[in-house]
Amino acid sequence: MGVEIRVEGLTKSFGSQVIWQDVSLTLPAGEVSVLLGPSGTGKSVFLKSLVGLLKPERGNIWIGDRNLPYLPEGQLYETRKLFGVLFQDGALFGSMNLFDNIAFPLREHTKKSESEIKRIVMEKMEMVGLLGAEKKLPGEISGGMKKRAGLARALVLDPEILLVDEPDSGLDPVRTAYLNQLIIDLNAQIDATFLIVTHDINTARTVPDNIGLLFRRELVMFGPREMLLSSEEPVVRQFLNARKQGPIGMSEEKDVSELEAEAKAGIDPGRLPPIPPQLLTSDGRIRKAQSPPGAWLRAHGIQPPPGSFIDELGRNWLEEWPRYVAAGNNHVGAPAGPSQSPPPGPQFSQGSKGGPPPRRH
Ligand SMILES: Nc1ncnc2c1ncn2[C@@H]1O[C@H](COP(=O)(O)OP(=O)(O)OP(=O)(O)O)[C@@H](O)[C@H]1O
Ligand SMILES: [Mg+2]
Repeated sequence: MGVEIRVEGLTKSFGSQVIWQDVSLTLPAGEVSVLLGPSGTGKSVFLKSLVGLLKPERGNIWIGDRNLPYLPEGQLYETRKLFGVLFQDGALFGSMNLFDNIAFPLREHTKKSESEIKRIVMEKMEMVGLLGAEKKLPGEISGGMKKRAGLARALVLDPEILLVDEPDSGLDPVRTAYLNQLIIDLNAQIDATFLIVTHDINTARTVPDNIGLLFRRELVMFGPREMLLSSEEPVVRQFLNARKQGPIGMSEEKDVSELEAEAKAGIDPGRLPPIPPQLLTSDGRIRKAQSPPGAWLRAHGIQPPPGSFIDELGRNWLEEWPRYVAAGNNHVGAPAGPSQSPPPGPQFSQGSKGGPPPRRH
């Protein structure tokens, strides 16, 4: 089961350049969180700070009772073993085949026998759909396979925390969809705490339990997916809807005159688009961290825009959910997790297109 990471008042600079300051957030144990922000806002620096590769100037990173920036070298080394990391550049060793690349952390950090290493590597390669590619060199495989190999390598030490920097950059939309499904399925299987950096808005809107947004050297907002997708905060609204209107300009920040011109022209941030349902596991099992669709909005008395929670097959997930839960808990092979039912209270009055219960794969 993943661990919670509590970040308090974190500030990171390089020389006189402040990257971000006073960042506070909690990555809930076992949940999938996504970190967004314009290019250069310090998302990769944040990931590297979390794993202890960069030292922040101020603030705390609590993992249990250990405060990472202040740990002595030996304890830091031990704590790092809780993490699996896929860096932005993938960082596979070009001269090693995929098997040896993925086996590398096991040979480096454990005293496991070669037969045990083989069992683990093959298990992780199967998880990410790479069985049969053990002998291939990184130069002989596609970009998508490289990402999955990097992911398998991040998984071999059975991490409690998985940090993934832009797993989807350079991938076509279909591969991105498969990768997103893999992330959700992995979370259901290994229960680790996930933090994913992405620029893909569709990923951000449909995959995570929580979303955070870095902008202008600050964490603008961090919270449940439905909170950010329904937020009226101009930066959040602009970013999560990939709009030109809003405070973010071509060179990251619009200047004051541009913003004033927009205000004069009466450009508003636009209507809130429907909130999509969250991506579910491919085998119908319910992730421990899964919240029922609409739960956060309902708890906060917010009416989602028309068309929210309706998937591409026309199913309204506010209505499908109880059936899905009932079927999921009976799913052969699914773990006997806590039974989940929709919270009491009024349902949103939304027209349903009905339809059959969700198809099982
Ligand atoms: N080791 C370093 N030394 C000095 N400056 C650095 C270092 N690493 C990153 N930076 C600077 O920190 C800023 C944030 O970089 P970072 O790579 O975290 O951005 P990012 O949000 O991940 O961007 P992208 O979306 O393009 O990947 C940049 O201005 C970068 O030049
Ligand atoms: Mg980056």
